[in-house]
Amino acid sequence: MSSPIVTVEIDRDRQDLVIEPPPSGVGLHGKLRVPGDKSISHRALMLGAIAEGETQIRGLLLGDDPRSTADCFRAMGAQISDLNEDIVLVRGLGIGNLQEPTDILNAGNSGTTLRLMLGLLASQPGRFFAVTGDKSLRSRPMSRVVTPLEKMGATIWGRDAGKLAPLAVNGRQLNPCHYHSPVASAQVKSCVLLAGLSVEGQTTVTEPALSRDHSERMLRAFGADIAVDAETHSVTVTGPAKLTGQTVVVPGDISSAAFWIVAAAIVPGSELVVENVGVNPTRTGVLEILDRMDADITLENQREVAGEPVADVRVKSSRLKGCEISGDVIPRLIDEIPILAVAATVAQGTTTIRDAAELRVKESDRLAAMAMELTKMGANVTERPDGLEIVGGSGLTGAEVDSYDDHRVAMSLAIAALLAKNSTTIYRAESASISYPNFIETLRQAIGDV
Ligand code: S3P
Repeated sequence: MSSPIVTVEIDRDRQDLVIEPPPSGVGLHGKLRVPGDKSISHRALMLGAIAEGETQIRGLLLGDDPRSTADCFRAMGAQISDLNEDIVLVRGLGIGNLQEPTDILNAGNSGTTLRLMLGLLASQPGRFFAVTGDKSLRSRPMSRVVTPLEKMGATIWGRDAGKLAPLAVNGRQLNPCHYHSPVASAQVKSCVLLAGLSVEGQTTVTEPALSRDHSERMLRAFGADIAVDAETHSVTVTGPAKLTGQTVVVPGDISSAAFWIVAAAIVPGSELVVENVGVNPTRTGVLEILDRMDADITLENQREVAGEPVADVRVKSSRLKGCEISGDVIPRLIDEIPILAVAATVAQGTTTIRDAAELRVKESDRLAAMAMELTKMGANVTERPDGLEIVGGSGLTGAEVDSYDDHRVAMSLAIAALLAKNSTTIYRAESASISYPNFIETLRQAIGDV
C-alpha cells in the first residue's frame, strides 16, 4: 500500500489534520454515502418528543449536534432510545407536556437545537427553563427568535437584554401573530411555527426569501395544519395542533455531500457517485451554482422517501468557470458557501458572492475564516461586508490553516488541501464531528487511500 495521503496528527489535546495531496491524475472514485441530514435529524427528534405515540427514525445523523437535541429532550421527559443509524425510537409526551428539567439545557454548538427548542419552551405554560450552549453558540444572535416569541407574549431573559445565551424562559400560553422576519432563516421560521402549535388560531411567518422547508413538510406529516403561500414566502400553522408519531427516513445530507461533489468536480480524473442525497429544492442551490460553473453533475435514481426528494449524485471532474452567487439562491445554499469558495479558487475567472452577511453569524464568521485561510493557501480572495470576491486559477499551496472550530470550515479546507501543491495542516479539525463524524475515513476511501 502507498504511504497515507490523509493523516491525523494529535497535537496535545487538539486534533490537527495533515493532508498530503494525491499524486496528479489520482482523482476521487467509487460510490459513497454521507450521514443523515442534520436539519431533518433535529426535527425528527423534536417532533417525536412532542408527538403522541412512537416515532421511528431511520438514518439519523450521529453527529454532536443531534446528540445535543436528544439530550435536551430527554432532560424534559421524552424517551429517546440510544442513537444509532438503523433505528431510533422516540416516545413523545404530547404538545405542551415537556417537563421542567432539573438543570440547564445545553445545546452545545447547535443553533438549530437552541433556536427551534426556544419556540417549544416559551409555549409550555407554568414551567421554567434555562438554556445555554458552547462558546460559539453563546456569541450567536438569539434576538432573531426572542423578538417574535415576545410578540406572541413569551417571557424570556438573557445576556445583553435577551440577545445572547444563556437564556431563561418562563413558559406560558402564547397568542397568535403574523411575524415578518427580516432574515430568510429556517431556524426563525421553525421556532415561530413550533411555538404556534399550542396557540389557539393562526400563527404566520413571512420571510424575505424561501428558506429550507423541512419543518413544514414534517409538521404536516405528523398531522399539523400547515398552509404555505409560495408567492409571499409565508407559512401558517393553525393551532392547537395534535401531532402523532411517525416513521421518518432521514436522507443523506446535501450539505455533507457538497464536500465530495465539489472535490470530485475540481480534482482532475475524478468520477464519483454520492448515493441517497436529499435534494429538496430548498437545499439544492449548490447544484444550481455548480451547474452554472460548468460542473459535470447528473442526478440519478430520483425518488421520494418519506416526503423528501432523494437522488444519487454522479460527478465527473471538469473545468469550472467563475460566476455570481447572490439573491434568492443564498438561503438555499447558505451552508455550502465555504465549499463553493474552494471551488471558486480553481475556477477560471472571478466568482462574486453577495447577500451572504448571514455567514458572519454561523458557527464562526465564515466569510472572514474562508478569506483568511484560503489566502494563506495562495488564493486570491477579497472579503466584502456581505460576501467574497475570488479570482480563480492561481493555484493553491499547502499551508498551516485554522478551522476556527467550525465543522464546515474544517472540511472545506480539507478539500482545498487535495489540490494544493504540498501538505496542509488544519488545526483542530475534529470539529467535523458536529455534522460528519466519519469525514476523514470517507476522505481516505474516496481518494483510494485505504
Ligand atoms: C438550519 C438552518 C440554517 C442553516 C443551519 C441549519 C436549520 O440556519 O445554516 O445549518 O436546520 O433550520 P439559518 O436558519 O440561521 O439560516
